[in-house]
Amino acid sequence: MKTNNIMIAALFIAFVAFTGCKKEEETPDPVTPTPTPSLYERLGGINAIAAVTDKFLANVASDNTINARFADAVANPYRLQLLRNNLIDQICAGSGGPCQYKGKSMLEAHTGMNITQEEFNALVGDLVAALDFYEVPAAEKNELLGILGPMQTDIVGQ
Ligand code: HEM
Repeated sequence: MKTNNIMIAALFIAFVAFTGCKKEEETPDPVTPTPTPSLYERLGGINAIAAVTDKFLANVASDNTINARFADAVANPYRLQLLRNNLIDQICAGSGGPCQYKGKSMLEAHTGMNITQEEFNALVGDLVAALDFYEVPAAEKNELLGILGPMQTDIVGQ
């Protein structure tokens, strides 16, 4: 009887040791695949977008190709604040974030300005420099530019 108990105990220990060593496999659930985070999330959310926007506006202010265009906005703190907020909302909403763009349409905002292709490219360059400053990865950078790029037809030559 005593021998039996010892054998049962030995078998139990062997079983626990065996199953304890077996590594749990972390197979993903095939029914509910992990959703890809939105561009908004991958950019780092509202604070990251606000920081990029501020750097972008600073770059525009020191860009002699286009800064004269923004002279009136820069001279008026309320107007500059509104432009900043509109840009943040536009990027936030466009990238799938929880914001609502409340500004004018791109056509309405830029009609009568006769913005050239060179000026458009300069502004995009200032945005790219801001994204690079914060080391936004190429994938996210290109995705954002892909959202803003098509607005060109409503901005250039209007
Ligand atoms: C993808 C490119 C661009 C985007 C996303 C964009 C976005 C905007 C937005 C959101 C506004 C505010 C609209 C409102 O007041 O409701 C605005 C205004 C304005 N934009 Fe653009 N814009 C772009 C290109 C340009 C370019 C290339 C120029 C000229 C070089 C320009 C010059 C202006 C000016 C002067 C204003 C009015 C600012 C003020 O005085 O309040 N924009 N833009």
